[in-house]
Amino acid sequence: MMKPLLILVGFLSGAVAAWAGPPDGPPVSGYQMMTPETQQLQDDDFLNPAMFLVDRGITLWGREWTQGGATCQSCHSDIASDMAGVAARYPRIDPVSGQMVSLEGKIISEIAGRLGAPAPDYESEDLLALTALIGFQSRGMPMNVAVTPDSGPWIAKGKEIFETRRGQLNLSCANCHQDHWGEKLRGDTLSQGHINAFPVYRLTWSDFGSRQRMFTWCMESIRSEPYAYGSEEFLAMETYLAVRGAGLPIETPGVRR
Ligand code: HEC
Ligand code: HEC
Repeated sequence: MMKPLLILVGFLSGAVAAWAGPPDGPPVSGYQMMTPETQQLQDDDFLNPAMFLVDRGITLWGREWTQGGATCQSCHSDIASDMAGVAARYPRIDPVSGQMVSLEGKIISEIAGRLGAPAPDYESEDLLALTALIGFQSRGMPMNVAVTPDSGPWIAKGKEIFETRRGQLNLSCANCHQDHWGEKLRGDTLSQGHINAFPVYRLTWSDFGSRQRMFTWCMESIRSEPYAYGSEEFLAMETYLAVRGAGLPIETPGVRR
């Protein structure tokens, strides 16, 4: 791990912190930064490893969460029409609770609150699978998170976190994903750091992961203490990044290097 980090420092020396707004021009998906082989892996539903999550999600959708209790299907009978466009507008202020909530947070509250079953953990297969299944119903639709007086402070907070230098490498998210996107960093081409493909199958991990797992990975790679899954900081980050990438098509379930 030390060697790549040294290369990182060299690569980024001289990077300027100043960044005032969204990327110049329309947002560019990380898909554009992938090799044709990896793109093909995402595009082909039979090859895409993350389609496993969607299949698993279909099973969970019809499962009883408590003995003899309701299934998701009991109330949301037609997933294709009931959940179309839903993932594209999260995180959002929940109309019922009045709280800002991510898609994962909403699914947890459906399971724990409405169905009275144990809340699934962040990064559990169950939660990734339902998030992928619901995200899949919005595939191709533009990210469309509402900017309102209520969500405004969350967006501002996320932007502030994105631009704050941190960790032993003293880098901000923006240093890589704003100032250096499109440039090579070891085997990767740095993307703008968008969240439109999650949950993804990441080849580097040989595993699935959520948006917040990606944030965790990036924070650890600059030797900084990551925020907790489900924290207000990560929720703010998701909200900001959704607005920053507004209009990008949802790619769920994505594949990344
Ligand atoms: C040292 C450079 C670096 C820093 C700083 C950094 N990242 Fe990343 N990030 C990467 C690399 C490398 C990848 C994988 C290739 C890519 O998509 O850029 C990545 C990927 C991502 C992705 C996935 C993009 C996609 O299309 O799937 C997101 C989201 C992301 N980073 C968010 C963040 C956030 C939030 C921060 C700040 C907490 C951050 N990154 C800080 C290097 C960095
Ligand atoms: C007893 C009926 C019922 C069951 C069972 C149920 N839901 Fe819901 N769900 C609702 C209602 C009503 C709403 C709309 C009000 C709200 O957002 O809370 C909703 C909203 C949602 C939303 C937000 C939709 C949007 O437009 O933002 C998601 C996502 C969701 N449910 C997922 C699930 C999942 C996943 C399950 C199974 C684990 C499930 N629901 C089980 C009744 C139910």
